Amino acid sequence: MINGKKVLYSGMQATGSLTLGNYLGALKNWVTLNEEYECFFGVMDLHSITIRQQPAHFRKCARNLFALYIAAGLDPVKNCIYYQSHVSAHAELGWILNCFTYMGELNRMTQFKDKAAKHSDNINAGLYTYPVLMAADILLYQADYVPVGKDQQQHLEITRDIAERFNSIYGDVFTIPEGYYGKSGANIRSLQNPSKKMSKSDENPNGSIYLMDAADEVVRKCKRAVTDSGNEVLYSEDKPGVSNLLEIYSACTGKSIEEAEKEFEGKGYGEFKLAVAETVNAVLVPMQKEFERLLQDKGYLDGIIKDNDEKARYFANKTLRKVRKKVGFTDILH
Ligand code: TYM
Repeated sequence: MINGKKVLYSGMQATGSLTLGNYLGALKNWVTLNEEYECFFGVMDLHSITIRQQPAHFRKCARNLFALYIAAGLDPVKNCIYYQSHVSAHAELGWILNCFTYMGELNRMTQFKDKAAKHSDNINAGLYTYPVLMAADILLYQADYVPVGKDQQQHLEITRDIAERFNSIYGDVFTIPEGYYGKSGANIRSLQNPSKKMSKSDENPNGSIYLMDAADEVVRKCKRAVTDSGNEVLYSEDKPGVSNLLEIYSACTGKSIEEAEKEFEGKGYGEFKLAVAETVNAVLVPMQKEFERLLQDKGYLDGIIKDNDEKARYFANKTLRKVRKKVGFTDILH
C-alpha cells in the first residue's frame, strides 16, 4: 500500500515501434487506473538489451516510448513513469532473485523459446533470465496488480512463484502480485495470420498496425486483413480473422462484441473492415499529434523524468534495503 492505495506496476520494452496490440492489451487500460491505485509504469530499457540495439536509435526509442505513455493519456504527475535503467535497484534485486529461481522454471518459458528461435545467433543469458528481472521490477514496488496482455501471464506466474519462495524463507518481504487483464484487447492477433499475436517483430509489416502508422496505411492494412469463409461478421472459433477484427473494434469503441455483431448484421466484410480502420484511426490520430507536440517540449519531458526517477528510486530502495537485510548482506556504512 502507498498512500492508502493498492499498488499497480507495468511497463513496456523500449524497442521498435509499438503496435495496436501493445496499446489495446496494455497502455489503453492503464490510463484510468491511477484513480484507484498508486501506479508505476517503466520504460523497460534493461530488458531491451537482451536483443542487440544500435545505441543512438535505442536512446531515441526509449524517449519516444516515454512520450508515448503521456500522449496515450497517462498523467505523469498522478503516475510514476520512469526509465528502468535509472533505478539501479532493478538490476540488484534481479541478481538476488536469480539465486532464488531454478533453471527448470526458466526452461519452461515460452517467450524465451520463441525469442531464442528468432535470434539464434544471440541466445544470451539475459534473454534466459529476462523473467527474473521482470519479477524484480514488480516486487520492488510491492505491486498488488500487474496489468499486462495474456502473453505475459507466464512471466507473472513465475514472479509469484519466486516471491512465494523468497517469503517462505525470509518472512513476508514481498507482496504477491496478481495479473490484471482488460475486458477486451488482451490478445490482439496478427492481421495476416490470426494464429500469431500481433507483434513488433513480425517480419510481415502488414500483420501489425503500428501506433505511428499514417491513417491511409491503417485503412490499407485493415482492408488486406485476412478474413474467413462466409460473409457474416460473427465472433467464433472458426472465424479467427473476423473475431480478431471484432476484438479490435470492441476495444477501440468500448462497445461489447455482441453490440458490434449486431451493428454489422447483414453487412459484408468490406464495410466492416472500413469501420474497423476508422475506429482505429479515431484513436491513433489524436495520440500521434500529442506525441509530436510532446517531443518538441524537451524541458517539460526532462523535468518529469527527473521527478519520477526520484520517486521510483525512493520506493524501490525501500524494498531493496529490506531484502538486503533479510538475505544477510553486511550493512553499508556511510
Ligand atoms: P512488451 O513490451 O512485449 O509488451 C508490452 C505490453 O503489451 C502487451 N502486448 C499485447 N497485448 C495484447 N495483444 C498483443 N498482441 C500484445 N502484444 C503485446 C504485453 O502483454 C505487455 O503487457 N516483459 C514485458 C515488459 C516488462 C514488464 C515488466 C511488464 C518488463 N518488466 C514488469 C509488466 C511488469 C514485455 O515484454 O512487454
